[in-house]
Amino acid sequence: MRTTTLLTALAAACLAAASPYPRAAAADLTDFLLVTTTQCPSTANSSALANVAATSLFDPYDQQNYLLRTIDAGYGSLPTFNLTSGDLHTAAVGPEGVGNYVYNSTGTVTAGQELQLSPAAESAGNLGLKDGYLLTVGGLEVGWTICDGALEQHVIYWKGNASSCTPTYIHAVAKAPY
Ligand SMILES: *[C@@H]1O[C@H](CO)[C@@H](O)[C@H](O)[C@H]1NC(C)=O
Ligand SMILES: *[C@@H]1O[C@H](CO)[C@@H](O)[C@H](O)[C@H]1NC(C)=O
Ligand SMILES: *[C@@H]1O[C@H](CO)[C@@H](O)[C@H](O)[C@H]1NC(C)=O
Ligand SMILES: *[C@@H]1O[C@H](CO)[C@@H](O)[C@H](O)[C@H]1NC(C)=O
Repeated sequence: MRTTTLLTALAAACLAAASPYPRAAAADLTDFLLVTTTQCPSTANSSALANVAATSLFDPYDQQNYLLRTIDAGYGSLPTFNLTSGDLHTAAVGPEGVGNYVYNSTGTVTAGQELQLSPAAESAGNLGLKDGYLLTVGGLEVGWTICDGALEQHVIYWKGNASSCTPTYIHAVAKAPY
């Protein structure tokens, strides 16, 4: 119930303010970072986004697929992404630190599941970048959530419905917020 109310508030905020800094067409944006923020409109400086958090890859138990989690200042580096055929792509070391792979989001992103990236070829997905910066699923930017995950990390879900989940937008940005 609380999540639904917050999602409605987020959607209203998005409609109320046209984005002052529309970016290049999604197809032109490469090697971007993904950040979470409670703000819909983009900013020239990602540090200025409301409640902004950087994201990084996370495989809590050396599982094959990476999850995406928020990460505080003090990280070593952040993953960069491209988006083609409705899938995200990012270069990363393989399971247990062996090999280098282009990880791909796992095709159609579905409600109640983590955003996952696998070291395998994947079928075309349903992700997009609205106005060149807002990460969407099936054209919708409202539905991303940050939920409590393993090892006390905060993990990105599409329509996570656990009581720990809070709604967020995900922006593609060129520079890290911190
Ligand atoms: C972005 O904003 C942060 C925080 O206000 C500031 O420290 C930084 O210098 C700004 N970066 C640019 C490129 O303006
Ligand atoms: C993303 O696109 C850029 C520009 O085409 C390319 O240099 C980079 O290797 C790509 N990254 C991945 C993970 O595919
Ligand atoms: C991920 O997808 C890209 C683009 O479709 C492909 O080139 C790459 O080989 C895939 N990664 C793996 C590990 O198969
Ligand atoms: C959360 O989603 C799962 C999977 O879709 C569903 O089985 C469960 O009933 C949902 N829980 C709530 C509280 O909506």
